[in-house]
Amino acid sequence: MSSKSYKIACIPADGIGPEVIDAGVEVLKALSAASKAFSLVFKHYDWSSDTFKKTGKYIPDGGLDELKKHDAILFGAVGAPDVADHISLWSLRLAICQGFQQYANVRPTKILRGTESPLRKASTGDLDWVIIRENSEGEYAGQGGRSHKGQPWEIATEVSIFTRHAVTRLLKFAFEVARKRQKKHITVVTKSNAQRNGMVMWDEIAVEVAKDFPDVTVEKMLVDAMTCRMVLQPQSLDTIVATNLHADILSDLAAALAGSIGIAPTSNLDPTRQNPSMFEPIHGSAFDITGKGIANPVGTFWTASEMLRWLGEEAAAERLLECVENVCGDGVLTRDLGGEATTKEVTDAVCEEIRRSY
Ligand code: NAI
Ligand code: MG
Repeated sequence: MSSKSYKIACIPADGIGPEVIDAGVEVLKALSAASKAFSLVFKHYDWSSDTFKKTGKYIPDGGLDELKKHDAILFGAVGAPDVADHISLWSLRLAICQGFQQYANVRPTKILRGTESPLRKASTGDLDWVIIRENSEGEYAGQGGRSHKGQPWEIATEVSIFTRHAVTRLLKFAFEVARKRQKKHITVVTKSNAQRNGMVMWDEIAVEVAKDFPDVTVEKMLVDAMTCRMVLQPQSLDTIVATNLHADILSDLAAALAGSIGIAPTSNLDPTRQNPSMFEPIHGSAFDITGKGIANPVGTFWTASEMLRWLGEEAAAERLLECVENVCGDGVLTRDLGGEATTKEVTDAVCEEIRRSY
């Protein structure tokens, strides 16, 4: 059988990033070996806060050109206790997302079999969402500045940027996602009562885009009310689309409602496919558990599954998630999910389950 080969750039970066990326690579290798349908060639890049402290740069000169030679990027987490978070985030993760126009951030969440939601009445099947986040502008456009630094009259501005072009392309992408899901239902989240310019334009563009998707049911929510809806009626939601900031916050809430921040994946997609897309677990570098061998690798396994789906390996992607759920279902869970397993035990169990399943 002819087998496709994909080039994957790995950037484990900081904290538990290297631990979960090692686990993810191991599981992906087991999967490609067992399926025989494709092969993966990994290249590691040690771009991290340590590199920054040594060289003054997170990404060396020509770094993005180097990344561009790959089919996808598998990213760990960036952030160190002794580097300001806005420096690490903007210098590495956002530099890649914005440099490669990865304008759609996709965050699926569900209650995996064998795990528990903190919501008393929700169990597997009751919470199954995908959150689409605008990933190129909005509140994180970086516009603004500070004057009179250190003076009592210091002033700082943080200007949100919403362009018709970026909002339209993102909403179209989100409606496409909604259309492919069983419920064909999308919730457009804004704050157009208080933010009367950018958010009102979002609402208007959503109405325009919706005309091309008559098969998708659309509803509008304000972001504050949305938090209540997510907690009280999780069954009533399916695809959710929101701005960079709003969806950032809602997706952390979503991960926690599904059981743990340690299970959820994120895809930073360039839907035009002119640049490689980047895949990462939703969590950060988790200094409090770094080096202890207890980080939950499930978020990275699900991330790996999403990466394979984007590369066109749907069957393997499904299989991987199925194996992860089987292992969770068997009670092999890390502490954040109420279990006692280590990162290595969960990884070994998933690799074993993959080999058994083929
Ligand atoms: P965090 O996600 O690193 O940790 C929040 C809490 O969740 C911690 O108690 C941590 O132990 C736990 N946790 C996270 N991932 C886990 C896993 N896989 N298994 C078990 N427990 C897990 O968020 P925090 O503490 O706000 O940020 C720490 C650093 O990470 C900061 O420097 C922040 O800027 C950075 N960060 C980076 C992100 C990225 O690279 N995309 C995303 C979020 C934060
Ligand atoms: Mg976040």
